[in-house]
Formats: sequence, structure tokens, C-alpha cells
Amino acid sequence: MSSTYGENLKLSIFGQSHGAGIGMTLDGIPAGLGVDLEALQAFLDRRAPGQGDWSTPRKEADKPEFLAGIVNGFTCGAPIAAVIRNTNTRSGDYENLKDCPRPGHADFTAQIKYGGFQDAAGGGHFSGRLTAPLCIAGGLCKQWLEEAGIRIGAHIIQIGEQTASRFDPLQPQLDQVGNFFPTLDADSADRFQAAIAAARTQGDSIGGMIQCAITGVPAGLGEPMFGGVESRIAQIVYGIPAAKSVSFGIGEETATLMGSDCNDAFAVADGKIVTATNRCGGILGGITTGMPVLFTVAVKPTPSIAKPQTSVSLSQMAQTQLQVKGRHDPCIVPRAVPVVEAAAAIAVMDMLLGNTQTTRRK
Ligand SMILES: Cc1cc2nc3c(=O)[nH]c(=O)nc-3n(C[C@H](O)[C@H](O)[C@H](O)COP(=O)(O)O)c2cc1C
Repeated sequence: MSSTYGENLKLSIFGQSHGAGIGMTLDGIPAGLGVDLEALQAFLDRRAPGQGDWSTPRKEADKPEFLAGIVNGFTCGAPIAAVIRNTNTRSGDYENLKDCPRPGHADFTAQIKYGGFQDAAGGGHFSGRLTAPLCIAGGLCKQWLEEAGIRIGAHIIQIGEQTASRFDPLQPQLDQVGNFFPTLDADSADRFQAAIAAARTQGDSIGGMIQCAITGVPAGLGEPMFGGVESRIAQIVYGIPAAKSVSFGIGEETATLMGSDCNDAFAVADGKIVTATNRCGGILGGITTGMPVLFTVAVKPTPSIAKPQTSVSLSQMAQTQLQVKGRHDPCIVPRAVPVVEAAAAIAVMDMLLGNTQTTRRK
């Protein structure tokens, strides 16, 4: 298994949903960076379940215990290690899933790959719960980036067929995103919550789209070809369970435009080179332009639904009906918003630590 990310920092995520605990180690972080544990907990609470109608009633405190790497509120240069003990588990809900895999979940592929040795309870290592340690690492990186003037924020722009406004690509309104339900305006929050409630009532689930903005990124971050900002962000975002597409700037709309409509004209403002529009999402040639970096993530509907579904019995090699038990979100999207921010923060931190940008000018 490879649950490790980073070229310059090294993030490893461990644990299974219903095991003793989940956690992370984060290596390669310089000494002397301040850590605000209260702010980190507030960030983790945005991802934790049990907050609203869109989330599972499962109560998990998600309180990390730091075992190493932080002394008196500062990083000490040694690897940082944190664990969250699992407390609210009901493994009995998952006993049938090794033989009868959930459509849309990783039960079948895990069974094929690990031959029955995998921990299937609660989705094991494939559970959305593993995004809690991702948020520990990302929450820390977010704090350190903020110190350097780099801010990251995400919001929901689509639930099912319902859509909402995107960020202003030149000046993303990070401070306008709702705290309780992360949209830019109250009307979209109401429509989105109604769509989620309707899915839940039908014993079903619903997906959506998240947009993330990174502001204050200096021009020149990222490497060519396979080390580009798009590649580095996409790699970690695809590590988020249920993330099914990542696109930058105006994304697929790019394909519909003429070059003259797509290109972002250069301009000079306050002695700096800027672009007058930002369709490229702040990235050209895999390298940041200095404008906000913008990307969107499509999140699929929660695979575990209350409605009966058609699956197979692997022991009988016959089709059967599956009734999924357990406590599942009717929509993953709201809880995935801080996870996307965390992923972006880790990717940017990793790239900043290894930035090979020249400081000389010809
Ligand atoms: C925050 C979060 C919570 C999730 N909660 C659930 C859940 O309650 N039930 C479920 O079936 N899937 C849940 N998932 C999604 C599954 O973990 C995911 O669909 C599965 O591992 C298969 O991976 P894939 O969708 O990337 O192929 C959650 C994902 C995230 C990011």
C-alpha cells in the first residue's frame, strides 16, 4: 500500500476506520514553525461528522494527540506524528461486505488485491475517515502558509443539478464563504441543503462540485512537465476518497473557446505583471503566474445508500441484492470542502519547500 505523499515533505497516513486509531506522520518540516492547536482543532471540526442533516449522525471527536515533532508550540525539526483514537465504531454493520461488495465502494477491489486479509470494517483504510489525518497535516500546512501570506479556501459550487456562483478568479472572496455550510451565498446553501435532504429522504445520496482558491502564491512556483502545479495538486486531491475529477481554471470549458477568448492578456499593475483575466487558473506551463490558483473537484455521491442495490455474492458467484447497513453521509461534499483545502495546502507547502526558482535575473 502506498499512502505517502510529497517530494520534499513526506506525509504518511495510517490506520483503518474501525481499528485502534488513525493518524499521520509528516517529515521534512523545518524547525521553528508555530503551531496553533486551537485553530487546528477548529479546522478539523469542519470535517468531523455529525454537524448537520447532510452528515452521518456518527459522533467522532477527531481530537489529535501529537506524539512527536512539536515542542512548546513550535515544530522542532523532527518528524511530526499525530494519532486520533477511534471510539465510535460498529463493525457488525460491515460483516457481510467481504462477500457482498458495495457498488461504488472499494470493497471489491480491496478483496481482489488483498485476498481477504484487508480490514473491511467501516471501509478499512479506504474509509473517508482517513481524511481526518489528511486534515491534520493540511491544517498545519495551512497555518504555515498563512504566515507566508498564502491563503486557501474552498466552497461548494454544485450539488446534483443545483449550481452556485464561482469565486471571482481575480479576487476570490475567501472571507465570504459561509462557516456552517460553505457556499458564497445563503440562497445556494438553502438550495443545496434541500437537494441533500431530498436524496436522504429517498434513501439515496448525491454528489457535487467544490471549488478551491489559493491566493498569495508567488509567481514561479512549480516545475515543468511532471512536477507542474496541476500534477502535484491533482495527485493529492485524487487521494481523497470519492474525488472523481480535478480541473484548473475554467477547466473543460477551455475546449469550447477560441484562443483569443481563452488567453489571459498580460498587464502591469502596481509594478507587477498580472493577467487581466484568469481562465488558466493561475498556472501556465505547470508554473504559477502569481495570480490566484483555482481548481474544481467533482465528488461522487456517497456509495453506501439505504436503497437496496444489486451486487454479487463472491462465495456463491451469483447476483444478489445488498442492503447496506451503517451510518453514512447522504452527501460527502460539505465535509470534503476542508479536505480539499488540506490537500491544496500540503501540495503548496511541498512545492515551496523544494522551489528551484532562480533568484538571478538576466
Ligand atoms: C469526508 C468523506 C466521508 C465519506 N463518507 C462515506 C460514507 O459515509 N459512506 C461511504 O460509502 N463512502 C464515504 N466516503 C467515500 C468512500 O470512502 C469512497 O467512495 C470509497 O473509498 C471508494 O473510493 P473512490 O470513490 O475514490 O473510488 C467518504 C469520503 C469522504 C472524503
